[in-house]
Amino acid sequence: MSANTTNNTSAVLSLRWENGNLYILDQTRLPIEIVEIRLDSIEQVWEAIQQLRVRGAPAIGVAAAYGLVVGMKPLIHLDLDKFLVRLKENAGYLNSSRPTAVNLSWALRRMQDFATVQSPQVISASQLYARLVDEAVRIHQEDRAICRAIGENGLPLIRDGMGVLTHCNAGALATSELGTATAPLYLAHERGMRFRVYSDETRPLLQGARLTTWELQRAGLDVTLICDNMAAFVMSQGLVDLCIVGCDRVAANGDAANKIGTLGVAIIAQHYNIPFYVACPSSTVDLQTATGREIVIEERAADEVLFFGARRTGPEGAKVCNPSFDVTPHELIAGFITDRGIIQPPYAESLAQHFG
Ligand code: MRU
Repeated sequence: MSANTTNNTSAVLSLRWENGNLYILDQTRLPIEIVEIRLDSIEQVWEAIQQLRVRGAPAIGVAAAYGLVVGMKPLIHLDLDKFLVRLKENAGYLNSSRPTAVNLSWALRRMQDFATVQSPQVISASQLYARLVDEAVRIHQEDRAICRAIGENGLPLIRDGMGVLTHCNAGALATSELGTATAPLYLAHERGMRFRVYSDETRPLLQGARLTTWELQRAGLDVTLICDNMAAFVMSQGLVDLCIVGCDRVAANGDAANKIGTLGVAIIAQHYNIPFYVACPSSTVDLQTATGREIVIEERAADEVLFFGARRTGPEGAKVCNPSFDVTPHELIAGFITDRGIIQPPYAESLAQHFG
């Protein structure tokens, strides 16, 4: 793994592929340092996903597609059958890095299906490898276009003078560009609209504070950072007209898993009659999962709760509960802002119609 620290404040790129190498922005170091690292092995890609150096459902999917390619590069001398066996093993390994965001398994499945279709048409593992690189690049490029489509579809929800609250980071850092929840905000800003964004800090790992606030601020949006426990107060003051959050998995009935704390935001929004929208690409819709109850919620290390950065804030040996995600029931969701339009209830029908 090689690292490169920069003060470059131009475009935020969560990851990039250049000359056959995968580079990611190490998000664990933001906002203090902007450090890009090159991931040279599949183990490094697994570690980067697990440690949240690259994170956010769509970015995890793109990183996994490239990660598979990184893992297959040393194996191009194998015969085709053995190469395909190792491809399946490596996909399984990468898929074990995090359980909740369906984009991870979606991207790995797509790469494997692609290999199955292509393998009768190639004469060597190295030829198949070259096509797998192209497919990973396509997944990456499509994600950019999808974010823009989400932005265009969500744009009519943004009005001059309004307050928009978001939770965690569903921004450019979590995708290939523009983000999902942030895409309508970036486009509205680009078109000269004026509005306020409230960014929940998002304990325990502070994706809202470290990442969303950072990326919106440097893009020139009017963003105000609040602690998670301030969301109810801010909404009670009439400062929020709309909530938009991202999503890690949408079940067939419209229940949606997102960063822990999202459920609380949705419940408060309902109390104050504020529309609560979930933004996501089609790759986040999982019609194989019937309801939110079946979504596997990642439980992360206790130290993420016992420490605030490097500082201990809980007693040694304290019992800790650290679910990384929660599930918002579909009844609380006003609509899904997707690349295929805004999907409205009843979700069992509308999701099947658009994504079946
Ligand atoms: O644990 P993280 O930081 O990967 O969680 C990220 C989120 O919950 C995002 O809101 C979600 O992945 C959508 S990103 C467009």
